[in-house]
This record gives sequence, C-alpha cells and structure tokens, in this order.
Amino acid sequence: MGSFPQVRMRRLRGSPAIRQMTLETRLSVSDFIYPMFVTHGRDVRKEIVPMPGMYQLSLDHLLSEVGEVEALGIPAVLLFGIPAKKDEMGTEAYEPNGIVQEAIRVIKQAAPDMMVIGDVCLCEFTDHGHCGVIEDGRVNNDKTLALLAKVALCQAEAGVDMVAPSAMMDGQVSAIREALDAGGYEELPIMAYSAKYASAFYGPFRVAAESSPQMGDRKGYQMDPANTRQALREIQQDIDEGADIIMVKPALSYMDVISKAREAFGYPVAAYNVSGEYAMVKAAAENEWVDGQRITMEILTSIKRAGADMIISYHAKEVARWLEG
Ligand code: PBG
Repeated sequence: MGSFPQVRMRRLRGSPAIRQMTLETRLSVSDFIYPMFVTHGRDVRKEIVPMPGMYQLSLDHLLSEVGEVEALGIPAVLLFGIPAKKDEMGTEAYEPNGIVQEAIRVIKQAAPDMMVIGDVCLCEFTDHGHCGVIEDGRVNNDKTLALLAKVALCQAEAGVDMVAPSAMMDGQVSAIREALDAGGYEELPIMAYSAKYASAFYGPFRVAAESSPQMGDRKGYQMDPANTRQALREIQQDIDEGADIIMVKPALSYMDVISKAREAFGYPVAAYNVSGEYAMVKAAAENEWVDGQRITMEILTSIKRAGADMIISYHAKEVARWLEG
C-alpha cells in the first residue's frame, strides 16, 4: 500500500466536482488591492500605453472608477499621484492639497467603506525622480525620513486608511510610526514595502507615474534580485520598526521570497504583482500568443499559493469579473 497501483493520484482529478473539492488555493475578490493613478485637471482619462486598461485619472473620473471597483467587491485601492509640478524636495507629496490627499478625501467622502491605501514615497513628486532627498549625488537616507513621515501624516490627515511606505529608506517604518502616533493616528496600520527589489519589472509604472530617475538608478536603496537572506533581514527590520503588513515586490519572479516570508513571520504578507508583469501578460494576450484570462488566473493563483494573503494587482477588476463568471 502507499504506492501504485493501490494509489492513483488521478482519482482526485476525475471530475470537475472532485477537482473543486480538493483545491488547495482559491482566489477571492477580497484578496485584491487595486492600484490607481490620480492626476490634476478635469475630465482626464489618459490610457497608460504599456498598461492597457489602466489610466491616469482626474478626480471626477476617479470617483466613477472607484464606484466600479466597489461594485465589483474589491475591498481596497492603492493611490499614486502625478503632481502639478515636480521639485527637488517633492513638496506636493506632503501638501494638504496635493493630488493624493485630494483623492483620499474625495474617495472617502463618496465611498466611505472603500479602504484607501496611500503609497508613501517621493519619486513621483521629485524632479530628479529619486525616492528621497539628493545630497552629493546620492539619496540621503536620514534627511529623507523626515519627509516620508510628513507624507504619511499628511495622508492620515486627509483620511487615508493605511499607509504603504515604498522608498526603501532604512528606518522609514519607525519614522512614520512615530509621526503617526504623535499625530494621534496610533490606530492607522502600516503596510511596508519591505522586500522591494531594484527591478526592470517597474518599467511601465514609471511611464504611468512619470517617475523615472533622471540620473542613475535605484540600486543604492532597492534590493538586488539575487538576494533572499537580505530580504528576510529587511522584513525583520520592518517588523521591529512597527510594520503591520509586510510586502514582497515584485511577485512573479520572487515567489520564493513570498514563500519564505510566509514561513518565517506570523505577519500578513502582501505581494505586488507589478506593472511589468501586467504589461507582459497583456502584450502576449493581445497577440493571442497566450490565453490572457487563463494565464492571469494561473499567475495570481500561484502568487497566493506561494503564501501571499493579499495581492496588489492591475488585474483586480477583470479578475473580479471572471470570478463572478
Ligand atoms: C514608488 C513605487 C514604484 C512602484 C510602486 N511604488 C516604482 C519604483 O520603485 O520605481 C512600482 C509598481 C509597479 O511597477 O507596478 N517608489
């Protein structure tokens, strides 16, 4: 016993019913967080060329889009902003009437049950495109911390439900936690982009958010794709600093990191199915080289199987429709 012919694994695959019963991983619409790009002006709905189906939206269009997201049952959105003007210090990121703060207020007023998450970074707002303050040609870690804390506090004051620091500065989670606590926002959770890699998979996002670094790259602060032990240390640091949810980003090429994070820590794990992962699937599907729906569901199911509790994905809306089926 215990091997063929007594054991036949195919018995568990003999019908749709038994296959359904023995499924180990099921995607649910409640697993998803939908990223959105907000911009100034009225009646702006500008398609992001490398990300078919994704748009830069002005506040009026944002609202109808959020209505759609809510009707589909997607519980949360993650906001990115395109400022009116970029400058050296990324000031629009922490001005009360900055585009992200406006968007938070507008959404929370119209759809109070929608969870609104703010990406806390400077790269969309700086003229040099880096995630922090530049000094002597490099990003100064400690000077950036005060600004990131201001961004998080400013989003909190606008009514955000969770902040997601993504700048990969050392100490950013504790700086933000302290600022939030001092401001009376001790209940506001932090989803930390803990293991964020310096990845070519962010290419389309940088078109979407107009946030490419104008000189150099992000390798001085984002992680090298070759490393996993360092990822676990990054995550441990963020947990020690007060992160409530830890994130691995990108997802598709980093499923081993997701899996290790799930095993090593008792914290909720988020995975970011990033812009380049989305763009590749869309491009191949548009050419009918792959079956877009099947490949998308396979990728997202695999990310969940690897250990993600929640998935940030540009596919969220179409997946919600397919799950309704
Ligand atoms: C901001 C940020 C980036 C992404 C999320 N937050 C860009 C970057 O680090 O260059 C990428 C998301 C995606 O590619 O979908 N720092």
